[in-house]
Parts: sequence; structure tokens; C-alpha cells
Amino acid sequence: MEPLLFGTSQINKQGELEIGKCPVTELVKDYGTPLFVYDTALIKQQARDFKETFEALGVKHRVVYASKAFTCKAIYQLLKSEGLGFDVVSQGELYTALEAGVSPEMIECHGNNKSYEELEYAVTNNVGMIILDNFHEIGLLDEITKQHEKTQRVMLRVTPGVDAHTHDYILTGQEDSKFGFDVKSGQAAKAFQLVKEAIHLDLVGIHCHIGSQIFDTTGFSVATEKMLDILISWRDQFDFVAPILNLGGGFGVKYTSGDQPLPSNEYVKQMVEKVKSECNKRNYPLPEIWIEPGRSIVAEAGTSLYTVGSRKDVEGVRHFLAVDGGMGDNIRPALYGATYQAFLANRQTEENQEQVTLVGKYCESGDKLIEDLMLSPTQPGDIIAMTTTGAYGYSMANNYNRNQKPAVVFVEDGKSQLVIRRESVKDMIRLDLDLK
Ligand code: LLP
Repeated sequence: MEPLLFGTSQINKQGELEIGKCPVTELVKDYGTPLFVYDTALIKQQARDFKETFEALGVKHRVVYASKAFTCKAIYQLLKSEGLGFDVVSQGELYTALEAGVSPEMIECHGNNKSYEELEYAVTNNVGMIILDNFHEIGLLDEITKQHEKTQRVMLRVTPGVDAHTHDYILTGQEDSKFGFDVKSGQAAKAFQLVKEAIHLDLVGIHCHIGSQIFDTTGFSVATEKMLDILISWRDQFDFVAPILNLGGGFGVKYTSGDQPLPSNEYVKQMVEKVKSECNKRNYPLPEIWIEPGRSIVAEAGTSLYTVGSRKDVEGVRHFLAVDGGMGDNIRPALYGATYQAFLANRQTEENQEQVTLVGKYCESGDKLIEDLMLSPTQPGDIIAMTTTGAYGYSMANNYNRNQKPAVVFVEDGKSQLVIRRESVKDMIRLDLDLK
């Protein structure tokens, strides 16, 4: 199978993968494996594609990076310089963004169970937007803003009941969802009234997020119609006109050759045209349009490098090929049955590919990274590159079996930079206390 190569990734004359002009053997020598390598030129390109499409269409907009896809100080700093906003979903993400020097005005806070402390932290740090998700939170924020005598800009997250045809686990826009206010049952309208009554809450728009890894624009189109339905009813009933319409993230990426996502500009173009035509049709002033891409900004820019270790051949059954990472640094295959591609990255070989199942080193039979992978024959010590691992890989990493989380490097133009150091065994007992 042909390797998937994105951005600056290429196979050099020596038959070796290089990313950002950095050969993988050098990266592995310097930083070890498992290693996440990010092609920063590609990340910037993805961010610019979104922004430039909006700019070319002449609409007011904000591209907000959903930082849950990959969070660390360096990614905030990189995307801040591209003019993006940031979606954070916990005090941890908010703290990281602030420590990275992100302007609080460019931050929006999401989450279906924000605590009093988290909300207070957000308000006192002057975040630009809090996306209200439930009635409990309206009460808490009302209380906090009164206490601090501060006005907070807010949006209401609604579930417009759109099925975006994606994997069930990552589908968040439909009615049977833990997120947001349901429209059909009248929750959204009730939330609207409560927010309008809260003297320190300044309602500036509505939000929806219909799912993730979406390949076509139908879902966004239907969602836009439904969001306009809501806005029209709020205008008619309450005389409210929303300055901002936030349509969330969810734009698909290429995990395997079979995936056919649209280019980012296509998603944006069709979305903007739909908003424009719906607003026109209903004589509603065009709101500022916000989107929240996570995966599509970082997924294809990220590659995981692993070192080949042991192997178990069960003739007629399966060849298990084990690498030095696994479900601790990429839980997506085990959790969602997510599929990926990988290839031998440190050398080229003329030998025929063989079918193997790429497994990790964790004590769990489900710790399979790729089932039935066609791969060039490998030796222990070879490097395997697994592509499109830049989103929800490191950010969902864990320490199962007390394996250490990998290092993360950014590469560009022949230079590499460590942005998250590898955990050490000492880190494994960092929070442990001795028995008294
Ligand atoms: N906005 C909201 C409100 C979200 O909940 C999400 C993702 C995004 C934006 C960004 O969506 P994206 O552009 O990345 O698709 N762990 C799962 C994905 C969970 C997505 C959660 N919300 C995975 O690994 O596939």
C-alpha cells in the first residue's frame, strides 16, 4: 500500500521518510520513540485555508481552534500567530492557553458540566465567550457574574437534531445528546429567556456542533436551516437578533486512502453560501460566522513514529507485529475502531509487503493499532510511521500500565523543536504518596 503523505512529508533519495525536511531517523535519534511529529507548515496552511476562504467571501468570521484535538502551549502559540481563536473545555485547557499567552478575548469556553470554579476562573480571567450548555450552568454563571459584577458574553449551545452520519460515539448534534439545549422540546427557548433575564449575561449568539469527521456538507446545510429557524423564532417572539452564528467543527480528514474529505475551503464556502441564502430568504441580517475546527487543523499534520520490537507469527492465523507504543498514545482504534495507515519509514525495500496486525505493548488484547496492515517486511529496530495521528492522539493519551507519554516535536524547514517532553519513569510516581 502506498504511504499517505501530507504537507511536507516525502520519501527522500535514501528511501527514508522526512517531515519538514527532517529525516525520521534523525528525529528518532534525537527524541526516541514513540514520537509525535507535527508538520507546522501544514498546520499553518490548514489554518490559513479556513481564514482565507472566509476573507475571500467577505464575511465577518472567527476560526476557533478546538484545542481538545491537540493541546499544549506551543500549539496555542503557533495558531495564535495565525489569528485563530480557541475553544477550551476545561480549566486545564484554559490555563494552558493563558500560560501560552493567548488573549482571553480570543477564548471560548465549552463543556457540558462546567463547575463553579471553572466558570469563575473563566469569568475572572476575562474570557471572550462562554458557551452555555445547560440550565445548571446558567444559574451558576448568573451567580458568579453578579458576585464579581462583571458582564459576560455568552452563546447558547443548541442541539438542532441533525444526524451528521458519522460514528455513533462522536456524534454530538442529535437530540439524544448530553450536549446543549434541545430545540424540539422547548429547552432552547426557555434557556433564551433565562439568559435574557440574567442582568450580567450578554447573549450574542447561538452555537451547534453536529458531529465529527464529517465528509459532506449536507449535515451543515440542514443544521444551518434549523439554526435560522431558531433565530427567526427568537426574533419574532423576543425581538432578538443574533450577532454571531457558531456552526461548530467536525470537518473530516483522511485517515486512510479510502477517506474522501472535502478540502477545507469547500466546507467553508458551502457553509457561508448556505448562511447567506437562508438569511436572505428570511430577511435576517447576516451574522458573523464562527467555526470550530479541531481535527482538520492538526490531524494530517501529525505522524506517530514507533520502533518495531517483538513479533508473533501464528501461521494461517495472523502475524502480530508489536511496536513500542499503542493504546496509551493512540486509543482511537481501541475506542472507536478507528482505522489508520502506516508504513516502514526508515528504509525502502524491494521485498513484497506482508499482512500484519500492528499491535502495541499494553496489557490488553484490544491494543491493536492497525489490523491487517500491508507492510514491508521489518526487523526489530525499524521505524514505523503511522499517519494522520495529529488529532485526538496525544490529547487522549494515558498512562495505562504506567507507560510514559511520548514526546512531541514540531518540525519545519529542516529544524525540529521539542514541544512536549517525553515522560520519564519518575513522572510515573509524581503524584504518588508513600503509605503511612
Ligand atoms: N466544537 C465542539 C463543540 C466540539 O465538541 C468539537 C469536538 C469540536 C468543535 C471539534 O470537532 P472536530 O473539528 O475536531 O471534529 N475524540 C473523538 C472526537 C471527539 C470530538 C469532540 N468534540 C475522536 O477521536 O474522534
